Amino acid sequence: MMSHTDPTPPDVPALPAPALQRLREARHLVVLTGAGISAESGIPTFRAAQTGLWSRFDAEELASPEGFLANPALVWGWYVWRHALVVRAQPNPGHQAVVALSRRYERCTVVTQNVDDLHERAGSRGVLRLHGSLAAARCMGCSRPHPMPPVQPLAPGDADAGRRIEPPRCPACGDRVRPGVVWFGEHLPAQALASAQEAAEDADVMLVVGTSGLVHPAAGLPARARAAGALVVQVNPLPTDLDPVCHHTLRGTAALVLPALVRALDP
Ligand SMILES: NC(=O)c1ccc[n+]([C@@H]2O[C@H](COP(=O)([O-])OP(=O)(O)OC[C@H]3O[C@@H](n4cnc5c(N)ncnc54)[C@H](O)[C@@H]3O)[C@@H](O)[C@H]2O)c1
Ligand SMILES: [Zn+2]
Repeated sequence: MMSHTDPTPPDVPALPAPALQRLREARHLVVLTGAGISAESGIPTFRAAQTGLWSRFDAEELASPEGFLANPALVWGWYVWRHALVVRAQPNPGHQAVVALSRRYERCTVVTQNVDDLHERAGSRGVLRLHGSLAAARCMGCSRPHPMPPVQPLAPGDADAGRRIEPPRCPACGDRVRPGVVWFGEHLPAQALASAQEAAEDADVMLVVGTSGLVHPAAGLPARARAAGALVVQVNPLPTDLDPVCHHTLRGTAALVLPALVRALDP
């Protein structure tokens, strides 16, 4: 009988039956996501972005305390551009499938390295953010929160990620406002990291979606989950450093593979 939902195209990779059964019987699902889950929302990943600023500057120039101090207007302008990109974007079927999956389990923990808010806007709750948020700027000096500038409708020139914008000054202490993300060389938020590590050790299944597995300590979570007995399943169109750690890899994009996985769990 034909279902009313879209049939899964034959080329979407699927899990073998025993692994699907483990997903059905699991109590605690942990979903670890990286930039790849937001790619189909139009947010470029680090490594896929071969154009514009991302290819002209070293990541460390744009995403480190030293880079910000050396060139605050370049770095702030880049984050203002990234924030606007996210505000104008929408969650995709991958983010939505994570919400659908979470409803099946007694416990579900979403851990993200992303600095966008697309998981939350799709409906995920209690997301553990390991790398901060584009929306949560704060003062360099006194850490007081500061709003991001309002996002204007797309205008000619907005596509230029290289526009220099002087960062605002903190009204309390006069220091510069900085982006609310974790930069290279900075510590992750201790509470979120500890909760993510605890969740990894308690997981029955960990789904690893759209992360290159190069940025530590987040990249260590799949091995931690596996060592504690979890089934580890990866969704990524390309090989990653995490391939050897994962029991199964579904080679495809998040917006195709995750909805297919949701359908496969309810035959
Ligand atoms: N959306 C965001 O918030 C965003 C965007 C870019 C970079 N970052 C930051 O980049 C850092 C780098 O780590 P990372 O591992 O998250 O990103 P990454 O850019 O290093 O890797 C992205 C991964 O996603 C995969 N991918 C690409 N398209 C995909 C798709 N449609 N579906 C599934 N997977 C896909 C790639 O093959 C790659 O393995 C993180 O600290 C993160 O904060 C975040
Ligand atoms: Zn201040």
